[in-house]
Amino acid sequence: MPRKGFGTLDAMKLFFCEGLIFQEQQHDESPKTGSRRITVVFFQGKKVFITGGSSGIGRAAATMLAGMGAHVWIGARRQDLLDEALEQIRAAANSQEQRFGSVLLDVADREQVSRAARQVLDGMGGLDILVNSAGIARPGYLHELSDETFDSMMNVNFMGTANVVRAFTRHFMQQCSGSIVNVSSTLGFMGIFGYSAYAASKFAVTGFSDCLRQDLLPYGVRVSVLFPADTDTPQLHFEEQFKPPETKAISGTIKAVSADSVAMALLRGLAAGRYHIVPGFMNSLTYYAMRLVPWLVRMVIDADLRKARRQLEADT
Ligand SMILES: NC(=O)c1ccc[n+]([C@@H]2O[C@H](COP(=O)([O-])OP(=O)(O)OC[C@H]3O[C@@H](n4cnc5c(N)ncnc54)[C@H](OP(=O)(O)O)[C@@H]3O)[C@@H](O)[C@H]2O)c1
Repeated sequence: MPRKGFGTLDAMKLFFCEGLIFQEQQHDESPKTGSRRITVVFFQGKKVFITGGSSGIGRAAATMLAGMGAHVWIGARRQDLLDEALEQIRAAANSQEQRFGSVLLDVADREQVSRAARQVLDGMGGLDILVNSAGIARPGYLHELSDETFDSMMNVNFMGTANVVRAFTRHFMQQCSGSIVNVSSTLGFMGIFGYSAYAASKFAVTGFSDCLRQDLLPYGVRVSVLFPADTDTPQLHFEEQFKPPETKAISGTIKAVSADSVAMALLRGLAAGRYHIVPGFMNSLTYYAMRLVPWLVRMVIDADLRKARRQLEADT
């Protein structure tokens, strides 16, 4: 039953969200056999390094890759989480020939990144695919975010991605092959209330990747950008506690998708050589709407914002 005050915009959102849930269930439960086979063949024997591979989307991708016969190295800051993830990744392997490992690194620290890059190249004897999934998110009112929090998002999400890419660029140029995937976000192509620092860092990842794509094109190295929407991971759970009510009103009707479905979209997009990989139906709709009718998207989210502000005023 439509609730009180249910308007055309709500109806549009509900329609599209239901569509998203339906699509995601299809995606999770019945992957097309043909395209899955192509994806498996593409990754067999590939050497892959994933930053942020100890949790969430990165860990899901690492585990799937192990099941597809790839050699996988993961990197992050917490050793205990790396060990736990590595155990899961090893257990998913389909051959004894596969090699796995982990490196401790803070992607925001250039020295640690270059040390880790040497470890990865020595450990695997090369690198075919680099996935930059390490990231942090902390929403909040712009005037309330501390300087340290504000800066950390740019330092980890953008500078961290750039540091890791730059540490491997010469390797890829000399090899004249390979793929790099940078994980951006829906907030890397549209901004909403409460995500100023995070969205800026993810827009930076998108812009950086645009140039990188051309920089590496002459060397036969492919670049992709992944734009996940809300994904059920520890990061999303952490964010929830800091979301201002206005942010919840704008993004509240979007149901989080599983890390596995996002990781599968990433691997399929990568195997298909796609530049922009946008997982999920609703997310794709938002992506195209932002390109074709950005004023309509702004109209919808501004209406949500006004409604949330009225509610807040009524509550105080
Ligand atoms: N979940 C979502 O709704 C969502 C939506 C859009 C985009 N994304 C993006 O997707 C990527 C993965 O996010 P997730 O949701 O999978 O998050 P997650 O489960 O929290 O995983 C984040 C990973 O990054 C690592 N990491 C964080 N800061 C790091 C640093 N400074 N140096 C090295 N590693 C670091 C974490 O390990 P340590 O903490 O041990 O270092 C962890 O392995 C991020 O870039 C995120 O912004 C997520």
